[in-house]
Amino acid sequence: MAKLGHEVVGIDVDVRKIEELSAARAPFYEPGLEDLLREVQETGRLSFTTDLAAAAGSAVHFICVGTPQKKGENGADMTYVDAAATGLLPYLSPNDVVVGKSTVPVGTASRLAELLQAEQPDAHLVWNPEFLREGHAVADTLHPDRFVYGVSDGSEDHPAVAVLDEVYSSPLASGTPRLVTDHPTAELVKTAANSFLATKISFINAMAEVCEAAGADVTQLADAIGMDDRIGRKFLNAGIGFGGGCLPKDIRAFMARAGELGADQALTFLREVDAINMRRRSRVVELTRDLCNGSLLGKRVTVLGAAFKPESDDVRDSPALSIAAQLQLQGAVVTVSDPKALSNAARRFPELNYEADTSAAAEGADALLLLTEWQEYRDLDPYALMELVSAPRILDGRNVLDAAKWRSAGWNYRGLGRP
Ligand code: UGA
Repeated sequence: MAKLGHEVVGIDVDVRKIEELSAARAPFYEPGLEDLLREVQETGRLSFTTDLAAAAGSAVHFICVGTPQKKGENGADMTYVDAAATGLLPYLSPNDVVVGKSTVPVGTASRLAELLQAEQPDAHLVWNPEFLREGHAVADTLHPDRFVYGVSDGSEDHPAVAVLDEVYSSPLASGTPRLVTDHPTAELVKTAANSFLATKISFINAMAEVCEAAGADVTQLADAIGMDDRIGRKFLNAGIGFGGGCLPKDIRAFMARAGELGADQALTFLREVDAINMRRRSRVVELTRDLCNGSLLGKRVTVLGAAFKPESDDVRDSPALSIAAQLQLQGAVVTVSDPKALSNAARRFPELNYEADTSAAAEGADALLLLTEWQEYRDLDPYALMELVSAPRILDGRNVLDAAKWRSAGWNYRGLGRP
């Protein structure tokens, strides 16, 4: 926002984050974010504080807090959204626009709009879902695919539409389309999009299971069906499945919300999407046992990748770490390596061993597992690595290595859903 020319104040309850951000340091790894912070810091248009009163005087207020999965339940924990919204109320002026970016159960916007009406009848609430991907957050924010504005009457003429158009004038001018909808449609666009993406991944992982049984190759299958542009090749990479702070909890929260609305039958397929996804993790444990001649006991297993995806240090619901923990539980001695996510991983799974250096991590390994496809792992040299390991066995959990090359270097290579 500051880069686009606006005066911005960022507010958070976490003192440490605010201190880091004030010093133009990103409190997590996201490519390009620190450069951007430094660039805008010089303009003086961006500041950070823990004081909610700093919201007073702003014309537009974005609510961007998380909606994690509730402990022991499928639904979304709305504590942070509710706290941000109610905390903001005393600082609102007439005609202010409050913009919801968080991924929420459908019905939240209408509930918050009522709250807003009671306190500040002339302010407006827009639901404006966020579609950025971790690892591509800066580019996705500056060049989004689309904007969706959910307003109370679903009308282009709603006064908040012009306000948001002004906020986003730069990407809109470069052709980003925007849709105006009512509140529930805007909320559902986000959950439907993430559910579709999750379904695509589980679909191809289900095909991987069939390919394995039939001796077929899921990567070629994905290439071939993806050439039909009604299907598309993106998000058809079979492997260890999806993780992170979004897709897994969003499909669960969506099922829970549909249940509350009496529409649970419509989403029973998402239960299967979740089940296929979780099954990938046990499949990798099984395959690793096979690779290690039928027993994991005392075997040294090196896991390459801890983050839920490359270019991120986020380990929330990371399939790689979940697999590493299961292997260790079954008697393997697991060492995890990752270019960025090791400290986050060690906080969550202190029982695992960690080694930042790939070669040191691979030293003496009975099996290597490539579970997060960082570029440096894609570029690994099978000949050099051969000298380090105790047995040349590799399981390519993301199907990103050249199987023929690894095999001709003498490795026992296993992909997922590939012969
Ligand atoms: C996801 C959506 O892609 C964003 O559009 C959305 O804004 C975001 O959630 C959110 O709700 O905030 P993100 O969680 O950053 O973004 O990650 P994705 O790129 O969607 O990847 C999710 C998981 O799927 C990763 O574990 C990735 O490895 C896995 N994946 C992705 C596959 O296993 N196969 C694929 O073909 C693609």
